[in-house]
Amino acid sequence: MLTIPQFLEFPSDQDSKEIVHFFLMLLENKNKGLFLHSQQVANYAVCTAVKMGLPLSEVACIKTAALLHDIGQLAVPNTTLSKYPYFNVRERAAYRRHCLAGSSMLENIPGFSHVMKIILHHHENWDGSGYPKRLKGVNIPLGSRIIAVCNYYDRKCKPCTNNWQWRGTTSPTSIRDLSGIMFDPDVVKAFFDAVIQNEASLTAGMAHA
Ligand SMILES: [Fe+2]
Repeated sequence: MLTIPQFLEFPSDQDSKEIVHFFLMLLENKNKGLFLHSQQVANYAVCTAVKMGLPLSEVACIKTAALLHDIGQLAVPNTTLSKYPYFNVRERAAYRRHCLAGSSMLENIPGFSHVMKIILHHHENWDGSGYPKRLKGVNIPLGSRIIAVCNYYDRKCKPCTNNWQWRGTTSPTSIRDLSGIMFDPDVVKAFFDAVIQNEASLTAGMAHA
């Protein structure tokens, strides 16, 4: 697993930090797979955001949003989550509400309005076919576009976490196929440079060790 750089400090005040830790503790207690997924997505999102040359304050904000992006799933029963992606109509509607639910959980926490926006839109698609608002292209917050790619990769391509909800492993090349459709092409490029190449060289290094 890649490591989250520790110098990225957001939030910086103690009260808000405790709130973030509280949510992470709830996630870990509810569903270990969901907790691990949040950590992985945060790792990938930070690497991608740094590769895109974003200011560190923005990277830190994206890191926190990635860690908390699925806290709305705290309101979805594990019996439903375990069926992903094979939901009936009612379960799918409950699942899809997690974007708004997660964002709403952070209302009135000072300094979290940007994080809330990123969380609200992390399932929007580049072509406008996502949810909850069907935003399109650059109207989707950049942090949400980054999390969307990292979320897909961790859910569908990573053997370490995919077995809690997805049978079989999808190749990362499918992310390239979805560039310009589901994902922002600039984010896809940065993600491949920062994460896929990094993991490929790590794997090659281990094979030669
Ligand atoms: Fe999500």
